[in-house]
Amino acid sequence: MKKVLVTGALGQLGESLHLKGYVTIETDIIHDETKKNYAILDISNEEQVKHLLDSEKPDIIVHLAAMTNVDGCELNPDQAQMINVQGTVNLLNHFDGKFVLISSDYVFDGEDGPYSEEDEVNPINIYGQTKLDAEGKVRELSNNWIIIRTNVVWNIGGDYKASFADWVVEELKNNRKIRIVEDQWNNPAWTVDLSRVIEQLIQFDAKGVYHYGSADILNRYEFACLIANVYELNDSLIEPITTKELNQPAKRPLKCGLKTDKIKKDFNILPSKTHLDIKEAKMHTIQ
Ligand SMILES: NC(=O)c1ccc[n+]([C@@H]2O[C@H](COP(=O)([O-])OP(=O)(O)OC[C@H]3O[C@@H](n4cnc5c(N)ncnc54)[C@H](OP(=O)(O)O)[C@@H]3O)[C@@H](O)[C@H]2O)c1
Repeated sequence: MKKVLVTGALGQLGESLHLKGYVTIETDIIHDETKKNYAILDISNEEQVKHLLDSEKPDIIVHLAAMTNVDGCELNPDQAQMINVQGTVNLLNHFDGKFVLISSDYVFDGEDGPYSEEDEVNPINIYGQTKLDAEGKVRELSNNWIIIRTNVVWNIGGDYKASFADWVVEELKNNRKIRIVEDQWNNPAWTVDLSRVIEQLIQFDAKGVYHYGSADILNRYEFACLIANVYELNDSLIEPITTKELNQPAKRPLKCGLKTDKIKKDFNILPSKTHLDIKEAKMHTIQ
């Protein structure tokens, strides 16, 4: 059986990623005594990376670890560079198997989305720039790679509690008003569905850049209302606002989202429907 090493395995996407038919070594920056086949790995520490890769000798790396706080990256660009770019280089310097990078629609400027794999990149914030630079390092330093660009990764009810969708459910359940932007467009990817796609691309031995998100381009307000409706919560508590009103440190690409024609054409992988994903997530939560 091939061995897969996953970085950032304790994150939102990592906790849904259970690759069938592989021996998996999960890693993240903190200790986790509850997990088997788990190792601590700070990707920004090249010595630690070298040591672990030399001892585990994985065939495949699924690289999820990143500094994902978009405003945090804007305020701490050196740290974002160290984790998102240099961390990727550190892995590639000591590995020559198949490398799978999860990247983002934030490599685009959001003027004219949704975007295909051929569209011109033009990041407008530090997070997007570091993800693009990491993509560049993968192309330069690996000869067997997949870059999977995705967007608005969400889950509800997992161990990872910092997600947008969890927050929406929690606030509405407690009858609290929330303000959500109605001018940022994406096709959100459910962690469970995205994990299935990552597994399929590895099994197909895909190579190159692939975009994946759901079949529905929604603005964030519409997405929150959809969650409220499926969870039978009061959507009148959700107030639509504009991105400008939030006055955040990092600029946001507004008209984003990812076209999925290539992954459909090459592998017959079809995008999921967001309302069905939310229904399924709700069933998982209740069980
Ligand atoms: N979330 C989205 O909407 C989205 C959209 C497009 C692409 N992506 C990409 O998808 C991937 C997974 O995203 P996610 O939502 O699962 O992110 P996440 O929840 O923030 O998970 C990332 C994990 O990496 C860990 N990490 C941070 N610095 C590290 C380091 N130096 N060494 C090792 N691990 C480190 C984080 O730990 P801490 O939590 O302790 O920092 C966290 O457990 C990321 O590469 C992200 O850029 C995400």
